[in-house]
Amino acid sequence: MALSILKEQPKSYREKSPEELKARIADAKQRWGERLVILAHHYQRMDIVPFGDFLGDSFALSQKAAMQPKVERIVFCGVHFMAESADILTPPEVKVYLPNPYAGCPMADMAPKLQVDRAWEELGQVTSETVIPISYMNSAAVLKAFCGRNGGLICTSSNARQALSWAFDHGQKVFFFPDQHLGRNTAKRMGIAEDERILWQPGLPLGGNSEEAVKKAKVILWKGFCHVHMNFDLESIQALRKENPDIHIVVHPECREEVVDAADAFGSTKFIVDYVSKQKPGTAIAIGTELNLVQRLAHEYPEMTILPLQKDGCATCVNMYRTKLTDLAWNLDLLDKEDDSLLIQVPEPVRSEACIALDRMLEIGG
Ligand code: 13P
Ligand code: SF4
Repeated sequence: MALSILKEQPKSYREKSPEELKARIADAKQRWGERLVILAHHYQRMDIVPFGDFLGDSFALSQKAAMQPKVERIVFCGVHFMAESADILTPPEVKVYLPNPYAGCPMADMAPKLQVDRAWEELGQVTSETVIPISYMNSAAVLKAFCGRNGGLICTSSNARQALSWAFDHGQKVFFFPDQHLGRNTAKRMGIAEDERILWQPGLPLGGNSEEAVKKAKVILWKGFCHVHMNFDLESIQALRKENPDIHIVVHPECREEVVDAADAFGSTKFIVDYVSKQKPGTAIAIGTELNLVQRLAHEYPEMTILPLQKDGCATCVNMYRTKLTDLAWNLDLLDKEDDSLLIQVPEPVRSEACIALDRMLEIGG
């Protein structure tokens, strides 16, 4: 992720009390009215969430960003690729900001454009079949542009299956990046056999595969992963089930194949929120996703027992956790001063090419 930090946050923000910061944020929201929209991802801190005009998963938030007729400014409480996507999907006059410019996504950085270009070239040399690139939303704008340019599209964890179906209507093979697990879990449930899903290891000739394996493959999975979701394992599921045979286990599709297979249900952060909301009081649920969301759900549903799947609590996305009240208050103060230090702006032609791939995603739905 390219960072261009124009300004450091003044120390005075860290000296203010949470009440003072909240009052400042609420005032700014009132002053800006409909001209300002704050989008908040489900993984945001508990004290940031109430300030979101919309709270959602990455699909729903990109949809919201694209549908704001009166808005002049969007403040995205999330990570860098989310703010970039919002900028791509909104008209040029709508300005998009990321309150903490250090909030990136390590998985999004696992597919550098140069390596993806090289892989694409190698694939073209080995197969004459049409390969459709699909990039997970958790990727840099240049990769989204790559998909737009090469007849592909973007997916999120809520529409990966629809995206793969779309791709197979338009070609014979799918090149899926950067998250191998979302790609594998989705392809598996679509009946794509194990030897038709191959792993592409960047840096190795043909990604470490034989020519024959590439020719046979239907889905080529980039070797990327989310380190947060790698904390969940089969042993934890088995131990929890032994302790409580009635426990429900719901996980995010960024988890490993064996974790998703052993869970009762899996889906996007919105899916997880909806899943919990449908359970009866007294239900015990272990959740395999980022800790902020699990803690918030436990707080919202005290009549249920809601636990993190990994008991040591290490499944925290430090990047999602970066956005604090101080950052949001500072961002809103900067808006008043017409100061664009926290602006996220995707340059042309990347913006237009990425928009093609994102529009295809919005068309297939969530
Ligand atoms: P969702 O698309 O489910 O909101 O997830 C985004 C993400 O970053 C998960 O780690
Ligand atoms: Fe990226 Fe993982 Fe954090 Fe999601 S949880 S933003 S994939 S690092």
